[in-house]
Amino acid sequence: MISTTLKTTKSEEIFTTAQKLMPGGVSSPVRAFKSVGGQPIVFDRVQGAYLWDVDGNQYIDYVGSWGPAICGHAHPVVIKALQEALEKGTSFGAPCVLENTLAEMVIDAVPSIEMVRFVNSGTEACMSVLRLMRAFTGREKIIKFEGCYHGHADMFLVKAGSGVATLGLPDSPGVPKSTTSSTLTAPYNNLEAVKVLFDQHPDQIAGVILEPVVGNAGFIPPDVGFLAGLRELTQEYGALLVFDEVMTGFRIAYGGAQEKFGITPDLTTLGKVIGGGLPVGAYGGRREIMALVAPAGPMYQAGTLSGNPLAMTAGIKTLELLRQPGTYEHLDRISGKLVAGLLQIARDADHRVCGGHISGMFGLFFTPGPVHSYEDAKKSDLAKFSRFHRGMLEQGIYLAPSQFEAGFTSLAHTDAEIDRTLEAAQIVLSSF
Ligand SMILES: Cc1ncc(COP(=O)(O)O)c(C=O)c1O
Repeated sequence: MISTTLKTTKSEEIFTTAQKLMPGGVSSPVRAFKSVGGQPIVFDRVQGAYLWDVDGNQYIDYVGSWGPAICGHAHPVVIKALQEALEKGTSFGAPCVLENTLAEMVIDAVPSIEMVRFVNSGTEACMSVLRLMRAFTGREKIIKFEGCYHGHADMFLVKAGSGVATLGLPDSPGVPKSTTSSTLTAPYNNLEAVKVLFDQHPDQIAGVILEPVVGNAGFIPPDVGFLAGLRELTQEYGALLVFDEVMTGFRIAYGGAQEKFGITPDLTTLGKVIGGGLPVGAYGGRREIMALVAPAGPMYQAGTLSGNPLAMTAGIKTLELLRQPGTYEHLDRISGKLVAGLLQIARDADHRVCGGHISGMFGLFFTPGPVHSYEDAKKSDLAKFSRFHRGMLEQGIYLAPSQFEAGFTSLAHTDAEIDRTLEAAQIVLSSF
């Protein structure tokens, strides 16, 4: 067994109090470590590729605040710009020029986006885009995929990934059947199932929404031809194709999965990276569709803090850093080295694993695979994942506390961090 060197007295005290104050002691479910066991770590500060907890332990981080920290935590360029922006006030509730700057950057980068609306989270972006899909087509039904997560709005809490998958929850209570009755689901990477749904509901399906690379059921890339097939099917049936790039946007390529795979959807949602660590989401797409959004058009959607100068500033600086040459090559090399190393070490220790990466996004499943869908991902040995997770934590490596979440690297991760992580994995994976 791995020896426990980690002292977590203060984390435990704080989390015990937190549980009396907030449901489950957290502000978002997966943070509670429920699926891996043990108590969550309470953090004090973050910098670069590292986290420090309230007991003074240091960790190499592969969660990156669930995606935003792609340049490394607290990047000095972002922090300096935020300090300057802070002096001018935190929110205007009125137009600011920074919105134009970030909008131009997003439009230039993301092939499908001709106009964009900023919101405050990925959830908001996805619920708004759904309203827009329905407003534009005059149809109500949508198709989503099993294990994909599009935030916690009612209509999407059907066979959802992320925390819903992690906690093994059935459809959430409180979601009216009438709200989800228009949400059709298909297995990821199964074009035939999508075609059947279109045939069963002709002229009723507003569109198809998906994570173009799944990160919320673990890391699952699209099979060759899947995205192109969806593009063709949606066009054939007069429906919209929506890429939820809240996770993949500016992460697997500057222009997201649509740039990487050369498939242009009608609409796109963004979040995480474009807020540079502050709360931001966005949705955008073809001009004629976006023209329906209020006040240009009749589809209502609004937000008190939307487009606030702090979030815009962090987003602009983050994208400027990502735009520099070599960034995605670095992310791809570092993640590739990490995953190849983990797979080798695990197999040498007789564990049946599979995994992969694209740029700064990666995953490792405790099943021989291959994993093409959520059903495949569920074959993972969750008990083994828990031991791996706990062991790595003890070794100072902070991984997402769920088999059903992708991992993230950043520009601050260098060979030194990867080598140290693989040394830790060697110890941990040979201990059980
Ligand atoms: C693909 C995807 N869509 C939507 C969301 C929801 O975003 P948020 O947590 O900012 O509401 C997430 C969050 O993880 C996500 O990964």
